[in-house]
Amino acid sequence: MDKLLIRGGRPLHGEVLISGAKNAALPELCAALLSAQPVTLHNVPRLQDVATMLKLIRNMGVTAERDDNGTVTLNAGALNNPEAPYELVKTMRASVLALGPLLARFGHAKVSLPGGCAIGSRPVDQHIKGLQAMGAVITVENGYMNASLPEGWKRLKGAHITTDMVTVTGTENFLMAAALAEGETVLENAAMEPEITDLAEMLIKMGARISGHGTSRITIEGVEALHGCEHAVVADRIEAGTFLCAVAATGGEAFLRHGRADHLSAVIDKLLEAGAQVQTEEGGIRVRSQGRLKAQSFRTTEYPGFPTDMQAQFMALNLVAEGPSMVTETIFENRFMHVNEMMRLGARITTDGRVATVEGGAPLSGATVMATDLRASASLVIAGLVAKGETLVDRIYHLDRGYDRMEAKLRGLGADIERVSQ
Ligand code: UD1
Repeated sequence: MDKLLIRGGRPLHGEVLISGAKNAALPELCAALLSAQPVTLHNVPRLQDVATMLKLIRNMGVTAERDDNGTVTLNAGALNNPEAPYELVKTMRASVLALGPLLARFGHAKVSLPGGCAIGSRPVDQHIKGLQAMGAVITVENGYMNASLPEGWKRLKGAHITTDMVTVTGTENFLMAAALAEGETVLENAAMEPEITDLAEMLIKMGARISGHGTSRITIEGVEALHGCEHAVVADRIEAGTFLCAVAATGGEAFLRHGRADHLSAVIDKLLEAGAQVQTEEGGIRVRSQGRLKAQSFRTTEYPGFPTDMQAQFMALNLVAEGPSMVTETIFENRFMHVNEMMRLGARITTDGRVATVEGGAPLSGATVMATDLRASASLVIAGLVAKGETLVDRIYHLDRGYDRMEAKLRGLGADIERVSQ
């Protein structure tokens, strides 16, 4: 199992290229299932979850080629196996994104239930309820969701769907299913994340009729068939946010090429309040800090609020900043797995349910720590970059799931970091 060895204490300097967003690329690869024509996606990040998604859709009979420049060409014309097996779904919950498109195009699908996950129970009840509202017949048996159309139906039917909570992949499943349904679908309480907007824009290029994306009410007028398209995946705001925190925490200066400040307002506002300088420049974001930051309290919420996917990384920054801070996680019930590992580095944190109280300014010293989930891993890397001495981050397959060559990018910024393979 690979580990990352970090010798901390070097401010990061230079320029880093932000990749395409994992959370946009995954639904967009699934959107290719909606058409029998070729779909070309550019700016697809090189990471494990994308490899898993490609494996999943190839297993369905889709041809998918990727080149070295991040372009993936897909053709779902010969798709003949509308199934997502447990073996693949268990490693990546986003596989549930295959359900909507498969059902919409083939009238039936068999997708494994995702099961548990380190950061919470993460059910898919809303996905099921929404598709049922569109007429789908869904039974759960032997750990699989078996979805089909009622007898005599050729397509799903448009519906008014109001989810109990805001769900990102739920909204994406409904968008894709509704694009090929008969009649109008209205999604209330829809997620507003930039990845939803990017997916909607791709679907519109394929001939879908969608309006209101980027707001909490999306309207989709179903069409009979979608055609192929060419689309570039939006830049990864979470990767950019992670680098913003890493540069600010180490007291350096860097330009994040392709970073989108407009997608990171909540995080950037906190960085500014902390005393870092963050500016939009042509083609990206520049961040600067002298290192002496003021800790910030924050609460995770749906977009455009502070992203849960940035909670752990900003907490790492709060460790080295001055003063106390309170971090409240409202999206997932068990997303403080990094806290105990940070404490191994000398952090002073107490947790009470969904609130973590951080006492900033404690001297951090290197230790062996274990990555527990994707964003927790990134937070431990940031903590390792500021800790004195050597930090060894174990189980970095979590990091590889969602970051495109993170250690190479950090090395490019002057970090002393290397991958140790065993
Ligand atoms: C997506 C992101 C993930 C991010 C999360 C929240 C992808 C591939 N993943 O995950 O990186 O952390 O949004 O921003 O885009 N819920 C239910 N029932 C459902 C669906 C959701 O109870 O059917 C709950 C979840 O347990 C969670 C909350 O709703 O507490 C939000 O989850 P959701 O937005 O669905 O997260 P994902 O789409 O899985």
